[in-house]
Amino acid sequence: MPVDLVLKNAKICLLDRIVEAGLAINDGRIVKVSKEVNLPPACENLNLKGNLVLPGVIDAHVHLRDQDLSYKEDFFTGTCAAASGGVTTVLDMPNNMPVTMSSESLLKRMEIAAKNSIVNVAFYSAFPKRLEEMREIVESGAKGFKFFFSRQIGGVSPEDEESLRIFFREAAKLSVPVLIHAEDKTFLDSKMEELKKNGRCNISAFSEAHSVESETKAIGRAVEMSHASGAHVHICHVSAGQSVNVVSSAKRRGIHVTCEVTPHHLLLSQYEMKHQGFIALTNPPLRSETDQEALWLALKSDVIDIISSDHAPHALHEKMKESVWDVSTGFPGLETMVPLMLTQVNNGRLSLLSMVRLMSKRPSEIFRIRGRGCLREGYYADLTVVNFKREWKIDSSKFYSKAKFSPFNGKIVKGKVIKTFVNGQLVMDEGEIIGKPGTGEIIR
Ligand code: DOR
Ligand code: ZN
Ligand code: ZN
Repeated sequence: MPVDLVLKNAKICLLDRIVEAGLAINDGRIVKVSKEVNLPPACENLNLKGNLVLPGVIDAHVHLRDQDLSYKEDFFTGTCAAASGGVTTVLDMPNNMPVTMSSESLLKRMEIAAKNSIVNVAFYSAFPKRLEEMREIVESGAKGFKFFFSRQIGGVSPEDEESLRIFFREAAKLSVPVLIHAEDKTFLDSKMEELKKNGRCNISAFSEAHSVESETKAIGRAVEMSHASGAHVHICHVSAGQSVNVVSSAKRRGIHVTCEVTPHHLLLSQYEMKHQGFIALTNPPLRSETDQEALWLALKSDVIDIISSDHAPHALHEKMKESVWDVSTGFPGLETMVPLMLTQVNNGRLSLLSMVRLMSKRPSEIFRIRGRGCLREGYYADLTVVNFKREWKIDSSKFYSKAKFSPFNGKIVKGKVIKTFVNGQLVMDEGEIIGKPGTGEIIR
């Protein structure tokens, strides 16, 4: 019996080396990686013309919105953006309308996503109101609990230390991570109030409120919470040198902590906000060039575990405000993450194998995405096919995301995703989405 598909004439990125070989796919899975002569006969053959095949990228921090926030993004547009950007699995954040914080709200999102998604989708939940619901949520398939130290989203207030300890302990018992948005609420609120009272409403005021101190304070608190409860904490979007120092010393103490960085915190500094204004406003804000350097060092020394986009789409009018305090923070990142990082590989700032480890292998391990994250026989055929040398210009008006803006708009990048396969299906070909909604699986 011939297999479904054979990809020939490729450079295939394995865990420790790149090989010139082909890849056979059957029933959505990789059945063979080998030299062409040893590949089985296939119903369909595709010549990849020497281009690179990477394990499908897993983006562990994405806001797909939908439901009452569909005007910003929905599962279809968000996963089209993912496919276009070479991302084959996304993990969806819970700060939705309604908030994902019960097994009902989670299952509802899964149901909508199953019908509309082009790539695979997994979900996080916020903490529920009642502790007993945590087990149900995990059994329904949540990959972790997201907790915002900055304001209450979900059933537990960041000021309720006692409940927090109990909920973190339950997460440890259920063997799921707690993902941390690290900003200290008390610190943030008092600073913000002071700034507003003084009539400050520009970008620098925002950065003063959402300070490095507030970030490190919250990371410190999360680390201690992990130490006390045994829960694995994952620090989202670290943005500063001091933050990675706190993570690094926690790791040395043997505390179960991991962390992520975004391409924008690696590649843009606060000066970008002077040029781009509120488009580049995100939370945590872009920091100094010294912080960027520190993030790169942490990336190279394995203090930072993964790269995630923090894809945070908004309507354009939500970015165009008079006062910084009224601006919706964040911007889309799914369509720029892979090309931006490939550009860094081309520049010699990162090795291709490190990039694959940071964007496929480690996310699959940290969030237990089974059968994905590397190119291996028996694994799902999630593939990001890349023309490594192609230069092109990012044009946010062409995004599949509903949010057609980006602080990277107009930037020249080197490295282009030319094909994306999800579960053995070609879903994006030379920029065109050809996958059917429902091709993506719900990962539990
Ligand atoms: O910039 C941000 N946008 N930071 C967050 O923490 C939330 C996110 C969003 O959901 O828009
Ligand atoms: Zn966040
Ligand atoms: Zn986020």
